[in-house]
Amino acid sequence: MKRILIVMLGLILVCSQVFAEDAVSSATLKIEKLPAAEAQDNGILVVFFSPDDTVRAAAYTIASELSAELFEIVPEEPYTADDLNYFNSKARSMTEMKDASARPAIAALPEDLSKYHTVLLGYPIWGGQAPRILCTFLETAELSGKTIIPFCTSNSSGIGSSDTNLHPLTDESVVWLKGARIKKGSTEEDIRLFARELTAGQE
Ligand SMILES: Cc1cc2nc3c(=O)[nH]c(=O)nc-3n(C[C@H](O)[C@H](O)[C@H](O)COP(=O)(O)O)c2cc1C
Repeated sequence: MKRILIVMLGLILVCSQVFAEDAVSSATLKIEKLPAAEAQDNGILVVFFSPDDTVRAAAYTIASELSAELFEIVPEEPYTADDLNYFNSKARSMTEMKDASARPAIAALPEDLSKYHTVLLGYPIWGGQAPRILCTFLETAELSGKTIIPFCTSNSSGIGSSDTNLHPLTDESVVWLKGARIKKGSTEEDIRLFARELTAGQE
């Protein structure tokens, strides 16, 4: 909790210095390392978007299992409970998902992705797809030559076309591996197994 508060305070400081003209500001954000005993320089980064914390919990477990580092996609304008109310067709999340060109702004990009060869990309399913802010990230982060492995959480939908629909947003040097969904109600051990299976065959 203390660490979340510190990260949030840091973000507020970063955001207060940024003039939001483009979808992504020029600010960068430090990549979060797990405690020294767990994090290794193994070239794997877990990037996630999680307005309601389900993906966040999974991302931390996956990073722990793979000794990877973490980067959170933080929206410049946080999503409120009203924004996430998908029973309201006029809610921000629903409006964004209806507009294929929507690119919600990200508060800050990762400072340096050059040391990572593999990015695990986590998101919640929204209307069967990845939230549009994933498009913002993929179009603006420096991902050339990397392998991307998507994972998602949802109430009931499978990953469907949500991962393959992201492929055209990166250049041809990016290698996309098959994504997978973490089942609702998965335990920590389930998610650790999921992480090992998702990256099987990777260095
Ligand atoms: C705008 C919106 C749309 C959603 N659409 C779906 C959906 O199509 N299928 C589904 O199974 N769950 C859907 N959900 C539920 C989320 O995918 C699920 O609660 C997810 O685990 C939330 O992750 P988070 O807590 O990290 O935000 C939707 C949630 C929101 C907010």
